[in-house]
Amino acid sequence: ASNDKFIQDIPKVELHVHIEGTLTLDLRWKLTQRNGATLRLVPNGPEITARDDLYAAMDSIMPDASRMNNEEERDMFFESYLEGFNALQVKEDFYDLAMNYFETVAAMNVRYCEPFFDPQGHTSRGVQLETMMEGFRQAQREAKEKFNVRSQWIMCFLRDLSPASAMEHYKAALPYRDMIVGIGLDSCEPGRPPSLFEDVFALARRDGFKLTAHCDVDQEDTDDHILQVASTMGVGGSDRIDHGLNSAEDPALIDLLLKRDIGMTLCPWSYMRHTTYADLGPRIRTLFDAGVKVCMNSDDPAFMEDTWILHNVLLARHLCNFNDEDIVVLAKNAVQVSWADQSVKDAIL
Ligand code: HPA
Ligand code: ZN
Repeated sequence: ASNDKFIQDIPKVELHVHIEGTLTLDLRWKLTQRNGATLRLVPNGPEITARDDLYAAMDSIMPDASRMNNEEERDMFFESYLEGFNALQVKEDFYDLAMNYFETVAAMNVRYCEPFFDPQGHTSRGVQLETMMEGFRQAQREAKEKFNVRSQWIMCFLRDLSPASAMEHYKAALPYRDMIVGIGLDSCEPGRPPSLFEDVFALARRDGFKLTAHCDVDQEDTDDHILQVASTMGVGGSDRIDHGLNSAEDPALIDLLLKRDIGMTLCPWSYMRHTTYADLGPRIRTLFDAGVKVCMNSDDPAFMEDTWILHNVLLARHLCNFNDEDIVVLAKNAVQVSWADQSVKDAIL
């Protein structure tokens, strides 16, 4: 079996992390104080006025990482995630957010990453696209110099909002296309199939962006969403699928993923919110053994008890009994399905 040091030391690529989901309570407190803003953990919840109260309050909202078993818990997660956005107001806040992420994962040997951001969660609060992009840009530059962590951004659309809003944000972000490698789809999934967003994905595809979309685990329409993302998104299908674990139960979907060479970003700690060890290991194992290019990622580390990419690789090993060779395969999968330039890929593993 693999030891922890082997997993710590192996060069890593992270492809599924919401930058707003990396907002730790420490940083959230700091930014809120700096901005003279109000800190709540859920909309209309009690205002947190003492730093020491923050951790207990968070614990009472999310006592453990296993809280997405029903609609109510899922809504609670998204509400608390979006509430965190309020801490982010000026360029320096976005810079600090991204720098904190880059520095944290540099210590875990991440060499390259493609973080998501949710522009609609900021513009809806009156924060300009320029504010977030310039903060991200500065952090991206400095992370490369200081930490040897390279990055490109993925702009995600909130699928519970309208396709028109997605299109509007897509067009508004084009001046920042040198920073943005791909377009994604996230937020609450039931009843919001990728096909609703076909126009914006087709346009992005034509403009040269890579495409991905969340097909979260054990949602009502997941299998249909996986099929859409793999076969028709942006007309020709996506390059990657985020989550997509339910394909493990469908040999035809597995065949399609293999035939089209679609990468899959898995986030095992995230699934502990609504599934069990016994359920999870075999499904990851099935995809891995079939040769689907799966890789391990953190999703929303600050909202999942501080489980970052390292902890997700460790959990995957535990769930699937992966040995050193398997861990190398996972790391290589991440490099291969990343959207880095070949020269960057060649330098990682
Ligand atoms: N699921 C879907 N969308 C998200 C999540 C998640 O866990 N976190 C941030 N956006
Ligand atoms: Zn996600």
